[in-house]
Amino acid sequence: MEVTVAKNSGFCFGVKRAVDSVYEQIEKGGDIYTYGPIIHNEQVVAELEEKGVGIINSAKELQNINSGTVIIRSHGVSREVYEMIQTRGLEMIDATCPFVKKIHDIVAKESRAGRHIIVIGSRRHPEVEGIVSYIEGDHTVIENEEEANAFTMPDNREICVVSQTTFNRNKFQELVEIFKKRGYHVIVANTICNATEERQTEAKRIASCVDAMIVIGGAGSSNTQKLFEICRRECENTQYIQTLDDLVLNFKSIKSVGITAGASTPKKIIQEVQSYVRANF
Ligand code: F3S
Repeated sequence: MEVTVAKNSGFCFGVKRAVDSVYEQIEKGGDIYTYGPIIHNEQVVAELEEKGVGIINSAKELQNINSGTVIIRSHGVSREVYEMIQTRGLEMIDATCPFVKKIHDIVAKESRAGRHIIVIGSRRHPEVEGIVSYIEGDHTVIENEEEANAFTMPDNREICVVSQTTFNRNKFQELVEIFKKRGYHVIVANTICNATEERQTEAKRIASCVDAMIVIGGAGSSNTQKLFEICRRECENTQYIQTLDDLVLNFKSIKSVGITAGASTPKKIIQEVQSYVRANF
């Protein structure tokens, strides 16, 4: 059996940094909280909960926390939450990915300069909720082509377009083209993170030349879901698993297997799956 494991699988730089900072705080001791689950991975979150790490799910819950350390995950948080952590005198470890922080800075600067900000991404995603909170003025969140076509600007101000870090690059270009074709004066800040694209490109390449493909990631992880869809288009025999326990592939007629994993999948789980496939088939 030939097994190919994607090099770009598992934690991206930003997620690793955030998860590492939680373990560093555990070593130091004290009351530790993450604002939202640190990653979309049930195993990691359960392990951290066992070690005493609490999860704060909303600003309302944050108001009931009087001491301890709050860790901000890689998606970042809204300015209001950030300020609330500070004013409540809580210790804060800001593990917002620097690529996300960069978007906060861009939208703050461009909106201060009077530009209308368009954020391309999922409006309910915590990263987008965080980004829009840094805009000082008006903004629009655009999720798809339909919304881009329906967008109207009441005056002739310039528009600054940014993107959620994990948005699809081609779709982003298509949406920007819609604004340009409609005659808007557009300043584009391409804020898509390379990590996602590299992961997807490699997964697609591997899936296109194996008999079976395994995609590992949490059930709630949208980047894993996207990886699964990409692989499935190339290789019909693609399976989405959270851990080794979910693997039910019948390898009888299979000579080659590819493995990839979402950005929230710990190395340990990828290794377990890889070792199992190598040892048993
Ligand atoms: Fe950061 Fe890119 Fe990961 S924005 S959190 S390194 S996907």
